[in-house]
Parts: sequence; C-alpha cells; structure tokens
Amino acid sequence: MTKPNHVAVIMDGNGRWAQQRLMPRIEGHRRGIAALRTLVETARRSQIANLSVFAFSSENWKRPADEVQGLMRFFVAGLKKEAVPLRDAGVRMHVVGDRSVFSEDLNAAIDEAEDIGKDASGMHFNICLNYGGRWDIVQAAQMLQKEDSPITLESLEQKLCMPWSGPVDLMIRTGGERRISNFILWQAAYAELWFSDALWPDFSAADFAAALSWFEGRERRFGMTSAQLKA
Ligand code: IPE
Ligand code: IPE
Ligand code: MG
Repeated sequence: MTKPNHVAVIMDGNGRWAQQRLMPRIEGHRRGIAALRTLVETARRSQIANLSVFAFSSENWKRPADEVQGLMRFFVAGLKKEAVPLRDAGVRMHVVGDRSVFSEDLNAAIDEAEDIGKDASGMHFNICLNYGGRWDIVQAAQMLQKEDSPITLESLEQKLCMPWSGPVDLMIRTGGERRISNFILWQAAYAELWFSDALWPDFSAADFAAALSWFEGRERRFGMTSAQLKA
C-alpha cells in the first residue's frame, strides 16, 4: 500500500459550475481557487511529496479576452496572498510553464513567491501556467540541442520543466471529461488515471481521499506480468 509520490491534477469544470448557477465564468474560477486551497492542504496532510496542478494551458489563450485577463489577475493576486501561508505550511511553490509571454507584474509575483518558499521542504507544489506537455518536451529537446548534448531518455528527462518531482503516479481530472488536454505527457507515461465527475469548485478533501485510496489498490506493472511482480 504505497501512496503516490507525484499527484497531478487537471482542475476542470469551473466555467460549468458558474454557468449552472447563472454566474459569470470568472466566478467559477474564483471558487476554483478555494478548492485549490483545500487540495493543497489535503495533499500536504496526506504527505504527498509532489503536487502539480494545471492552472492555465498553452491553449487557454484562445478563450475570450476578459476571461484570460481575469485569470491572470487571479494568478498575480493569489501568488501574492498565498506565498507566505504556503511557505509556513512547508509547501515549496514553483510556477512551471512558458513565462516568456507573461506580464511584468505576473513574472515579478512569481519570482517573489518562489523566493519566499525556496527553503520549504514538505511538498513541492508545481503550478502549471501557460504549460503544455508537448511544449515541455520540445523545450527540453531544444536545450539539449543548444548544448550539443546527445538526446537520450535520461538526458531529456532532466531537461523537462520539473525534474525534481519525477514521474506522475496519479493523475486526477475533474469535470467529467476523460482526456489529458496536453497536460503532463512524458512524466505521466505510467500514471494511474482517475476521473471525477465533480466540477472543480466542488472537488473536496473526501474526493481526493477517494482517489488516493483507489490508487493504493492499483497493481502497477510497468510492462511486467502480475506473477513477476508477486515473485
Ligand atoms: C478549468 O475550468 C480552469 C481553466 C481552464 C483555467 P474550465 O474553465 O475549463 O471550466 P469548464 O470546463 O468550461 O466548465
Ligand atoms: C484543461 O482544461 C486545462 C486546465 C484545467 C487548466 P480545458 O478546459 O482547457 O480542456 P479542454 O479544452 O476541455 O480539453
Ligand atoms: Mg474546461
């Protein structure tokens, strides 16, 4: 009965949560932040060493401009507000993704929040912002090419965005869709996949516990047979 070392969460369903209540989509995102706070606390309590969350995909720029702007404002405000409480809870926060297109404000907030948390050692918390799994693989390959280094499984893996967190053991997606939507690809090669119909703002500590307990019952064969594993 081992718990996952790295849990990745696709927090989906904010917009539908709001629309069901005749609220603007941005209200769903606001409520989504509260659910994220609960997730981080629960993961920390459950002694998860690495938690990655999908906050904004490289494809989410295609959304209406006011929604994108609202989300960016939430990211800046959230980083400023949560950096110290996260650090105090032993959580080391990283923002992972292509930062080259972010506003100065957002990049400054990221730098400051990462600096505040740099010595926390209880849990790595990767916030994937303007992240795409395909982009991650390409940027890793480009770095190796620039260094004129050979491309191997190991060398490429070391250049991916969050080498400190290792392979994803459990990937959770809320919101009822059964797809990966270009989230972590390489590191999720052998991830166990858990899909929840709960819309993200409704995803509770109990839902997370249910995913963890399901994970503990999985037999992870990594290509081998069940008999080999039991030998
Ligand atoms: C996920 O919720 C949050 C982000 C993509 C930022 P959605 O906004 O995708 O919610 P739905 O899928 O439209 O309900
Ligand atoms: C994935 O959700 C991205 C995030 C949760 C940040 P989307 O809502 O963007 O995914 P699709 O478009 O339904 O595949
Ligand atoms: Mg969605």
